[in-house]
Amino acid sequence: MSAAGGTGTTRLDVHFTNSDARADLRADVARGLTAVPKELPPKWFYDARGSELFERITDLPEYYPFRTERALLADSVADIARSSGADTVVELGSGSSTKTRLLLDAFLAAGTLRRYVPQDVSESALQGAIEELHREYPDLTLHGVVGDFTTDLARLPGADPGGRRMIAFLGGTIGNLLPGPRHAFLTHVREILAPGEQLLLGTGLVTDPAVMVPAYDDADGITADFNRNVLRVLNRELGADFDVAAFDHVAHWDPANSWIEMRLRAARDLRVRVAELDLEVAFDAGEELVTEVSAKFRPEAIDEFATAAGFTTTRRWTDPDERFALSLLTAG
Ligand code: SAH
Ligand code: AVI
Repeated sequence: MSAAGGTGTTRLDVHFTNSDARADLRADVARGLTAVPKELPPKWFYDARGSELFERITDLPEYYPFRTERALLADSVADIARSSGADTVVELGSGSSTKTRLLLDAFLAAGTLRRYVPQDVSESALQGAIEELHREYPDLTLHGVVGDFTTDLARLPGADPGGRRMIAFLGGTIGNLLPGPRHAFLTHVREILAPGEQLLLGTGLVTDPAVMVPAYDDADGITADFNRNVLRVLNRELGADFDVAAFDHVAHWDPANSWIEMRLRAARDLRVRVAELDLEVAFDAGEELVTEVSAKFRPEAIDEFATAAGFTTTRRWTDPDERFALSLLTAG
């Protein structure tokens, strides 16, 4: 597809099909609801409603990561684009690609960018982003990929012959991976980049818990609704019968692990049946289901995990309150 008058085309490849999603969801739920403590991976928040709730979170006064990273990008993109020379920007977990427009504008001004490749598990978010971007950037080639960044990096489109890729992983989403999967993910990203190509990585920094916790427990209850959305996904996709309102939202700062942990706490004794798995699960009153960790880092920890995966830190931008960092990492 090409916009009237534009030279850019759009394409959407579905690597993570509905049936892949279903098989993964079944496996994650069978494992997670029988684990101690019970847990579910955060990627299941993001059906169409979950993606919309995340967008609302980014507008909340308490949710500083989004606007802090946006300000860092505004300050840094011209330098990044000038020094990168990338013809292809790949973005993992791109969602609505809102902040990415800053990056695209700078790369287009630098004259190198030909193609933007957003990848996300949420087909609805990706579809919406591509339609809007095509209107705004009619000459840019847009190649969306519905995929899972923990398993599907190898099938992402490569750079043009003789060209360069940059991968962007923004929002602090790396913090939603536990340390083992985080290392595996970064090592995999390093493997698909050629030496000298770069990863632009957004990370939340450790700051005052009085700032961090409200970002995950806002006064309007939008984050609570986002958290509970995973139960709605299980009810719809697996025929579960969670009483969604019977779970309270919990956001807790865990200093030992350096992460915010989001949980859902059963308000009373509950029995839940997951029809498609023929599984019955009991929750005691007060029992908590872990739905997400959101790790916050010190700058030295970012350098450590980057080095361990084969990257060197080329540059870092941090806001004056030191709440968020953008790191430009170069593959060795
Ligand atoms: N990068 C955007 C969106 C962050 S929200 C920003 O900075 O604002 C996290 C995004 O990652 C969501 O769009 C979600 O659908 C996507 N996501 C979560 N787990 C994923 C996975 N395993 N693979 C691909 N995308 C994933
Ligand atoms: C996508 N990710 C970086 C968000 C975060 O801050 O960890 C998800 C989120 N969870 C609750 N609010 C936002």
